[in-house]
Amino acid sequence: MDISKIRNSFQLKFGLHFISRTIVKEYCRKMSNYMNYSEASKLYDEARVAADAENIYNIFTGLLKKPANKIDLLDIGCGTGNYSYSFMKNGLQSITIADASQEMLNCAKIKMKVFEDKVTAQDIILPNLPFPEKSFDVISCMQVLHHIDSAALKESTKEHLQREDYPNMLETLGQAYNVLKPGGVLVIDVMFEENCESFWWTRLCPIAAKAFKRLRMSQKDMIQSLEKLNFENIVCTYFPGSRLVKKEIYDEIQCIDDPKWRYYLSQYKLVEKSGELDNLIKIVKDAETSGKLKEYFDDWSEKLWTHGNHSAVFAMKPLA
Ligand SMILES: C[S@@+](CC[C@H](N)C(=O)[O-])C[C@H]1O[C@@H](n2cnc3c(N)ncnc32)[C@H](O)[C@@H]1O
Repeated sequence: MDISKIRNSFQLKFGLHFISRTIVKEYCRKMSNYMNYSEASKLYDEARVAADAENIYNIFTGLLKKPANKIDLLDIGCGTGNYSYSFMKNGLQSITIADASQEMLNCAKIKMKVFEDKVTAQDIILPNLPFPEKSFDVISCMQVLHHIDSAALKESTKEHLQREDYPNMLETLGQAYNVLKPGGVLVIDVMFEENCESFWWTRLCPIAAKAFKRLRMSQKDMIQSLEKLNFENIVCTYFPGSRLVKKEIYDEIQCIDDPKWRYYLSQYKLVEKSGELDNLIKIVKDAETSGKLKEYFDDWSEKLWTHGNHSAVFAMKPLA
């Protein structure tokens, strides 16, 4: 369902923007029910990191060929601002931080205070990007897209998902194209199939692993979607060995029976829901008792060493 259409219809009906916004926001909260970000904002920074932010920054500035102090960046789904902060440290001209969760955005605002008037914060609900056309040199969208079609995908019984099954994702990419300046770069941090398989638990919990992958568009479909929108110079990178959560937390899998530890990675909710958690705990505890947990973790994590937890996709809007 197209959020802009819902919003417009409410606006027409009630003639009041704030009413439509509240109703649409409620709808979107349901859309992103994979994780409650009001709650998550309290613990998010204890564990999460801006994984590979410096490499990502170097790639997009390399494509852009502009000095940092001439770059205007929009970070959509900025969360608590970990990537926003890492990018901004390089001396960008301006940054707009935007998220649907007020609580996450508040954390980001506090973190970004050091950059003073170079920062604008905006409450947004993807796929809507309420910015004038050609506003930004860079748009970053880091670990966000898997949320925005989650409600519809949950209902879907389709075995093989295609591009059309991710309408909000497609709409977001299209709107990003419009608000990028010509020559601008879109940076999307996502998980493709092999990134999903880099998580140690996916081999042991096939039902949850399947649900985890379904939230994500395939690499081929993502690239084709960007091409269809006229993006060019599309580049994808893996970050072998890279974790989205601090290594000292991520690797401590003997804590799998601790709900607070599981809360650090929203994926464990899928394992709880699939009914595979008890068995997973048993496997880990047995491995620990036999003194082989480290060896097993390395084996289960094979794709972590080759692909890492995430991929970044870079795509340029043509200059003319
Ligand atoms: C996994 S967090 C990523 C945060 C940040 N980009 C990072 O990498 O640390 C996902 C973020 O997407 C936001 N989000 C989810 N659905 C959204 C939507 N429809 N519109 C805007 N933001 C959304 C959540 O509020 C959350 O802050």
